[in-house]
Amino acid sequence: MKIKLLAATLILTLLTNLSRAGEGMWLPLLLSQLNEKEMRDMGMRITAEDIYSVNHSSLKDAIVLFGGGCTGELVSDQGLLLTNHHCGYGNIQKHSTLEHDYLTNGYWAQRMEEELPNPGLSVTFLVRMEDVTSQVLMNVNDKMNQKVRDSIIQASMKVLVSTAIKGTHYSAQVKPFYAGNQFYLFVAETFTDVRLVGAPPSNIGKFGGDTDNWMWPRHTGDFSMFRIYAGKNNEPADYSKDNVPYHPAKHLSISLKGIKEGDFTFVYGFPGTTQEYLPSYAVDMTALQRNPIAIGLRQQRLDIIDRAMESDKLTRIQYSAKAAGIANTWKKMIGETRGIKRLDGIEKKQEFETNFQQWAQSKPGTSAKYGQLLPAFSMAYQNFIPVNNAYTYLTEGLLGVEIIRFANGYSNLVKQCSDKSKSDADIQKLTKQLQQSAAAFYKNYNKKVDIQLFESLLTTYTLSCETGRQVPVVKETSAKFKGNIPAWAADLYKKTMIADSARMNAFLAGFDRGDIRKIEKDPAYILATGIYDYMQNYFAPVLSAFNAGNDSLQRQYMAAQMEMQPEKHFYPDANSTLRVAYGNVKSYFPADAVKYTWFTTLDGIMQKENPDIYDYVVEPKLKELYNLRDYGRYADADKSIHVAFIASNHTTGGNSGSPVLNADGQLIGINFDRCWEGTMSDLMYDPDQCRNISLDIRYCLFIIDKMAGAGRLVDEMTIAE
Ligand code: ARG
Ligand code: GLU
Repeated sequence: MKIKLLAATLILTLLTNLSRAGEGMWLPLLLSQLNEKEMRDMGMRITAEDIYSVNHSSLKDAIVLFGGGCTGELVSDQGLLLTNHHCGYGNIQKHSTLEHDYLTNGYWAQRMEEELPNPGLSVTFLVRMEDVTSQVLMNVNDKMNQKVRDSIIQASMKVLVSTAIKGTHYSAQVKPFYAGNQFYLFVAETFTDVRLVGAPPSNIGKFGGDTDNWMWPRHTGDFSMFRIYAGKNNEPADYSKDNVPYHPAKHLSISLKGIKEGDFTFVYGFPGTTQEYLPSYAVDMTALQRNPIAIGLRQQRLDIIDRAMESDKLTRIQYSAKAAGIANTWKKMIGETRGIKRLDGIEKKQEFETNFQQWAQSKPGTSAKYGQLLPAFSMAYQNFIPVNNAYTYLTEGLLGVEIIRFANGYSNLVKQCSDKSKSDADIQKLTKQLQQSAAAFYKNYNKKVDIQLFESLLTTYTLSCETGRQVPVVKETSAKFKGNIPAWAADLYKKTMIADSARMNAFLAGFDRGDIRKIEKDPAYILATGIYDYMQNYFAPVLSAFNAGNDSLQRQYMAAQMEMQPEKHFYPDANSTLRVAYGNVKSYFPADAVKYTWFTTLDGIMQKENPDIYDYVVEPKLKELYNLRDYGRYADADKSIHVAFIASNHTTGGNSGSPVLNADGQLIGINFDRCWEGTMSDLMYDPDQCRNISLDIRYCLFIIDKMAGAGRLVDEMTIAE
């Protein structure tokens, strides 16, 4: 017994310590309470109040959620903003054609008039946040089921939100933290006129491509520049020629002083999702079941798309952004599963669960509350895993075919045409919208590529997905073709007009209500709606039932973990709200006898150069500057140009583009990735192996100033030398 207790305490201290060395994404509002002392002990010279303040402007006023999934930071008093190249990628791509290939060659606006508008792109500032737990939970109790609880919570949230934004142009949201044990209100301000200012050529912004992605040593110049425009009153306004550059309450000053190993750094941004407090069953499902299925299907898509891009320039433009997205998640999943295995992540969770169970059963109070949690989790996941696997085959397989996703977009038109309450004008309006989305779709669509995707993905789907959970239309049509998927594909792509831009454009241009039969009879439409209907009618209810039960278990499990370890500081899982992660610039040992130092240089770019491999072509102008050692004030004290560096900040997807700041709160880098050995940190953080990768801000300015000759932009910035 004594030994067991000792072991338990040991694991407890281990877990407590684990949460210190760089682990965690903390709420800006709580820094002074939970983190400031440790941050200062680690070397920080500014205060928590400088980072987030309710009363005056603080660093938070220079940070934005960029385009929904990334972070950006303001670097001038005229709304100039930095983010990653891969965050601006979609918009850079939209401005690119064979004649003006900004994606390949880069783009630099020489004057403000040349800054390019991006319909649909927005940036959002956090105005303030507030703990509203007691208001949200006022009317709930432990006896309610999750559904009743959720609806009461929703109602309180609605009131809080409308009160918070009354009489302002702000928006607000209440979000759950610690799996629904706490709630915070976020008031935000969104700007919709955001223009592209500059982007380096792909062989800088995406140097190393998907080959180097998620890896260190890294040499990607992963940045792009935008500018926020506002109405004359400095408030958000939709795009207009008359809008003016936005004056932020705060912009970051930039340090050219350089950094060294051990230096304190912090990352300020909008991490998307982490799941650090799951039971072992859930980690098992993600790492050992879902990931392998999705990895295989993504591999099939990439093989086809990569081959097509290699052989044709237009296809490269059309598919580069799509391929980057597919490859990014594909590789992340590989790294995550590998990392969990290497860390014995599932076994570690199981050990913790053994202790948890003992703790829970040690007292009648906790036993009644928490004693049945783990068995309930076990049962729920056991039943859910086959469903989740089949669902993964559907979303990663069937929905990997572009025409299936696109064809489903016509179901609304079909509905409206048979709805007597809809006027012809309503239908015309919808047809107009569909014409626009068709134009955007066909610009980046290659039917030959899609046919190959169809053949490959549907073959795997019909052979590997559990038969009893396959979509009926897919099963039936495949049987009609005796399982010969290429024959099915040949037939479908010949008959469908939806894969044919000329036919479809003509059809939409002359569309009249009576024509809708043509869509309803189209084989791509029939297949697509059959799949989406099945998702809606079969999967959605099962998924939501699982989620409701699981939410409730996870909420109790989270509360229990906190009760069990009262001295541990828990950080809430990421949920796309503003967070601070802090750590030190730090080398690491990825494998036996291998040490990775903390920075890379321009010399490394030259070492990787290979004119025959797309990802490793070096931009001629960059080579010229390298040969002349023409580095200006951007060189390090060691006389080289530093390109990227690593540190022990805990980051995740969404932190892309986040500012990396030094002890004085000055900008030293732009976060853009994580190291391979640490990609499991969304599920489990390992201080030995988890590192975030940042672009050295001096390389960024070197490219803007020396390579692009856009010194006018550097002149706008506040530089500390
Ligand atoms: N891995 C980074 C992130 O998750 C960069 C992704 C973009 N780069 C790429 N080669 N696909 O977003
Ligand atoms: N590249 C990621 C992003 O787009 C950031 C890297 C990560 O996942 O840590 O947000």
